[in-house]
Amino acid sequence: MSKLRIAVQKSGRLNEDSMQILKDIGISIDNGKDQLKASARNFPVEVFYLRNGDIPQYLKDGVVDAAIIGENVLIEKGNDLKFVERLGFSKCKVSIAVPKDSKDNSLKDLNGKKIATSYPETVKKFLKEQNIDAQLHIINGSVEIAPNIGLADGICDIVSSGSTLFKNGLKEIEVLLKSEAVLAVSPILNDEKQAILDTIQFRIQSVLKGRD
Ligand code: PRP
Ligand code: MG
Repeated sequence: MSKLRIAVQKSGRLNEDSMQILKDIGISIDNGKDQLKASARNFPVEVFYLRNGDIPQYLKDGVVDAAIIGENVLIEKGNDLKFVERLGFSKCKVSIAVPKDSKDNSLKDLNGKKIATSYPETVKKFLKEQNIDAQLHIINGSVEIAPNIGLADGICDIVSSGSTLFKNGLKEIEVLLKSEAVLAVSPILNDEKQAILDTIQFRIQSVLKGRD
């Protein structure tokens, strides 16, 4: 009998809530954190612990069947990938921010300027739609430091509590999108796996209703 392979974030903000929702829907996993793969004891499911940014490609290739992932990552790297359920946790925004004493106060002020980001595709698409011509500088983390070290005029990154912006003396000037954790699916699912997914989705819906 086939098992549904579900990817979750290995470590980071989504990990704990992802494992909790699996637990809440009755999927118990013996969690050796160093193990990158674990089978559920009581359900035809295998959990893969992966890096966030790698998950969309695994879904596209059908290496995993489903994933609990931030919508923002799916938008950045997932192009045609679909999600079937919003999960209500890990809510955040993807926003553009500039130094708080900057004269740049709106998006159009960033014309001809430099923006540091880990979300190049999202930013590119947005700037194009808004007819803004800015240069992107791609970095993988600690993006908020970029303006302070003269690397860029502004940044585009995730804002959750807003604490990182605040601590780095930045002000938000534009929200590109709002995001939360979602249940995403691979386009390559056989009937047997689809049936397991349907059961999981149904259980998730019940759990989420109960949380309201
Ligand atoms: C993430 C994100 C923001 C910050 C937002 O960074 O890139 O910098 O969290 O959260 P906040 O609004 O609650 O401060 P993370 O700490 O994961 O580190 P990284 O950017 O170096 O990956
Ligand atoms: Mg960061």
